[in-house]
Amino acid sequence: MASIRDFLFDIAFLDQSIAYLTETLHLAITVIDSEGIAVATRQAEGYDTPVSRAYPFHFSSDIGALVCAASNQDILTQAEPHILYCLASLNSQLLRETELRETTEEMLQLSSQLNFLCKMAKKILGLDDLKKCYQIILDEISLAVKADQGFVHTKGRWDETISVTHRMTTEEMESALTSNCLQRQATDSTIICTREDGASLLYSPIKEKGTQSGQMVFLRALNQRAFSASEKKLVGIIGDIISPTFETLRLYDTLQDLYMNTVKALAAAIDAKDEYTHGHSFRVAKYALAIGEELGINSQQLNDLEIAGYMHDLGKIGISELILGKPGKLTNEEFCLIQQHPVFTDKILQPIKLPIHIVEGATQHHERMDGTGYPCGLIGTDISLFGRIIAVADVFDALTSQRPYREAWSVEEALKTLYDGIDQLFDREILLAFLSALRSDQTKEVLGDIHLSFTHEDIQNLNQFLVELTNFSMPASRG
Ligand SMILES: [Fe+2]
Repeated sequence: MASIRDFLFDIAFLDQSIAYLTETLHLAITVIDSEGIAVATRQAEGYDTPVSRAYPFHFSSDIGALVCAASNQDILTQAEPHILYCLASLNSQLLRETELRETTEEMLQLSSQLNFLCKMAKKILGLDDLKKCYQIILDEISLAVKADQGFVHTKGRWDETISVTHRMTTEEMESALTSNCLQRQATDSTIICTREDGASLLYSPIKEKGTQSGQMVFLRALNQRAFSASEKKLVGIIGDIISPTFETLRLYDTLQDLYMNTVKALAAAIDAKDEYTHGHSFRVAKYALAIGEELGINSQQLNDLEIAGYMHDLGKIGISELILGKPGKLTNEEFCLIQQHPVFTDKILQPIKLPIHIVEGATQHHERMDGTGYPCGLIGTDISLFGRIIAVADVFDALTSQRPYREAWSVEEALKTLYDGIDQLFDREILLAFLSALRSDQTKEVLGDIHLSFTHEDIQNLNQFLVELTNFSMPASRG
């Protein structure tokens, strides 16, 4: 129940109006609220007031009344212009108060929506996985509108359909998608509808450049209340703001994919220059990734490490195939030229303005821990982390690949050689991480490219060898 006294910003105005009507016009005034209860009464002393008229007024969504009584009809009729003037002033003040309250409420709603969007933006900022972004957005909105279930059904990077769900199975999602209440409605705006089984559905389209590209649907369980108009409004507003975000995420993801494919195409072009190093850049990227994962590097950095792996021999593009694939011993001049390939890589990559750790990883893979590497003779951790990782991956692949002048080495022989260079040539922590990666369940996959016919027994033997080598390499075991 609303009382006009709670609703008036300037309560003195009502009292002054009542005083004027009673003292000057000799009326008896009663103000009644929406329930018919008198909230103010005043009567001029010494006057009987047997006749009365009621004048209604509105406040909020309620109606109250000003009941004016007088000793006869003539007095009431003469007083009416004054009564109506007071009433108009009262109504105008009540209207202003209503508008003020509505504006305040809208601002509060807007503020909570902004808070919600900021919270969500913080969570998806920096995420490069499109599906993860959709999932976070869906979970956050489901929480905000207290939905029991929900799903996003939209396009992926290549326009393929992708879906994420919130507390529902794929079958439940498909059933909701084909429910009659959604099929019947115009689906280019946010709507609330009731499914055949009585569950409340809140539907919002996802649009790209004005065209519908997907949908967000939220469901409330059968025994729960239906979605409200304010929840629909919230989802509608969020949908309008989120739609361009979805579009940007999708484009970003597509660009990332195109970028990685371009990098891979470049790597394939480098590898194609030398039939003996075929697939080298891809395997180095794969080994580098295995080491990076073992070291606990985050997903964005792993992505960059993979790119650096693909690009590490980019500079070889400027060296003749005759030198790269020469079956015999290289002359001093030829060897010096090959040693220049990290410098050529640097020259090619510098103008592209890639993140510095990618460029360092690609150009420092021939640097060695004791400073005997090239092209700069960097020592220890002056060599970047990516450079030290790719150095191990590069040498391992070089040794286990066939060359014009020798057969491919076995994995054990290659690892022993790497181990012989521990601390002097290769970073101990990185070498141990590589050994650990080779011992993990992914051994078969990591080595898949070089040992296609690796048997279970081979893996067992290799594991035993790796355990021994790791134990031997641990700082404690060396005394
Ligand atoms: Fe190289």
